[in-house]
Amino acid sequence: MLKSAPVLSEQLGDIQGMLKSGYGWLKTSRFWLLTVRDGREDQARAWLKELLKPELDLIVSAERVGEAKTKRIDEALAIAFSHAGLVKLGCEDTGAHPFPTPFCSGMGSRLRESLLNDSPRQWRWSDVEGCLDRQAVHILVAQWSLRDATTRMPDPDPEVFQINKVENNPYSFAKRNDDPEERLREPFGFRDGIAQPVILGLRDVDGESDKAARLHAGPLYEDRVVSPGEFILGYRNEYDELTYCPDVERWAQLHPGSRFTLNGSYLAVRQIEQYVNAFKELEDANDVSVCEKMIGRRKNGLPLSWKGNPDDQIPDSTADAFRYQVDDANGFMCPKGSHIRRMNPRDSLGSDVPSGVKASKLHRLLRRGRPYLEETADKDEPRQGIFFIACNADFERQFEFIHQRWMRNFRFGALHHEDDPIVGVPQQPSKTFTIPALPSGREVSLKDLTGTLGGGYFFLPGIKALNFIAESMRPAPRVAGSSAETATVR
Ligand code: HEM
Repeated sequence: MLKSAPVLSEQLGDIQGMLKSGYGWLKTSRFWLLTVRDGREDQARAWLKELLKPELDLIVSAERVGEAKTKRIDEALAIAFSHAGLVKLGCEDTGAHPFPTPFCSGMGSRLRESLLNDSPRQWRWSDVEGCLDRQAVHILVAQWSLRDATTRMPDPDPEVFQINKVENNPYSFAKRNDDPEERLREPFGFRDGIAQPVILGLRDVDGESDKAARLHAGPLYEDRVVSPGEFILGYRNEYDELTYCPDVERWAQLHPGSRFTLNGSYLAVRQIEQYVNAFKELEDANDVSVCEKMIGRRKNGLPLSWKGNPDDQIPDSTADAFRYQVDDANGFMCPKGSHIRRMNPRDSLGSDVPSGVKASKLHRLLRRGRPYLEETADKDEPRQGIFFIACNADFERQFEFIHQRWMRNFRFGALHHEDDPIVGVPQQPSKTFTIPALPSGREVSLKDLTGTLGGGYFFLPGIKALNFIAESMRPAPRVAGSSAETATVR
């Protein structure tokens, strides 16, 4: 355990910018899933080093994002590694401060498969080596850019890497219903990326956007504010404890008093295909409002409890300012089994509102995924979905808890036989979704609306650690009494 946290405001230059911003103005996204070919580790590191060159200006720090000149950022990369990838590139964790089990075993492992109620036989890729029919991804590069910009990122060499590129869905930012802005819509047509935690210490307390957000959300703004240690390693979390920082060999020799994972985060990544035609059939057979109840928001992003006009244009911070326990205890507006109520039960976990809000802050995710689209032979039926990325500091308490205890729990919220209507367990013999109402509710029969094509756990290092990985030569032999054992930490 670290003895004390560094001052976050002094570390912003070392934190990758995706923890501060979803780069909403960079409307093109591309996700590179790379496997380092055997014997090509040095070339892989050389390519990473190239990406880090200051003149390419591709690695954006949280400090730079916060400089209020964000519109000048025309391209940004985030680089993360699976455990297999770190080992391949010579970054072995120390015996004294090892990586946590979920990260080491990987989302694609048998154990995680059963914990997450997954069936990864169909997966094209994962973070685990040794499945011949599945790519074992070592490096994830997320690339965001302006729609028409030519990229500065040098392409990875197919001789060095096995490459799988997940491309942006060009229709994901669409102007609809006279919306003055092009705002993100996922493939079923819902506005997405509205509800996000605000990381204490990363927000610009004096900045215009934060002031506006506080004004729009009123007192409920504080419900969203979460300690930095929930997302960034090495800082205080919602238990007021310092988030555990694993370390790697040789780091302490170069950076005494620090740990390799300080200022980093973990990413839970899933490529989720969405069956858009099945969703349209469901909408046609029922009514749009049924599908809105399943998600828990209107298509335009308004909360289902919104009392104004259904076409109102409201800021995201207003659209995220609502609770359930008092205003919608029975789920007559937002059903208890809906996607958003499962993913973030807000105040409804505790015996009273403050304890409920406090409890849900222990299980928040910072979502940074984007819709993707893959052309097929049939032009009218491209394969599409969400390249889902959730940042968190503790896989077990955050991503896995939500997945297992809320999303794929058939008894969530006193329900007794249904899981998440959108991302529940696939291929159930019969699947239903309950819409509570008076005098009696309604049960809707559902088909599978999504399927998972791949997934993995990744570590998003701080920028210094990123340079260390790129610079790292082959692992030095372990010297007794060196590195982690003698590391002094702040
Ligand atoms: C294809 C699959 C998915 C679709 C179509 C989808 C769609 C949506 C939509 C439309 C919203 C409401 C917009 C917003 O509040 O930002 C939302 C919210 C959310 N989703 Fe998903 N989602 C998917 C998968 C997942 C998965 C796998 C997770 C986590 C394991 C997840 C976690 C969340 C969270 C945490 C929220 C915010 C809830 C809140 O704070 O009120 N989603 N999702």
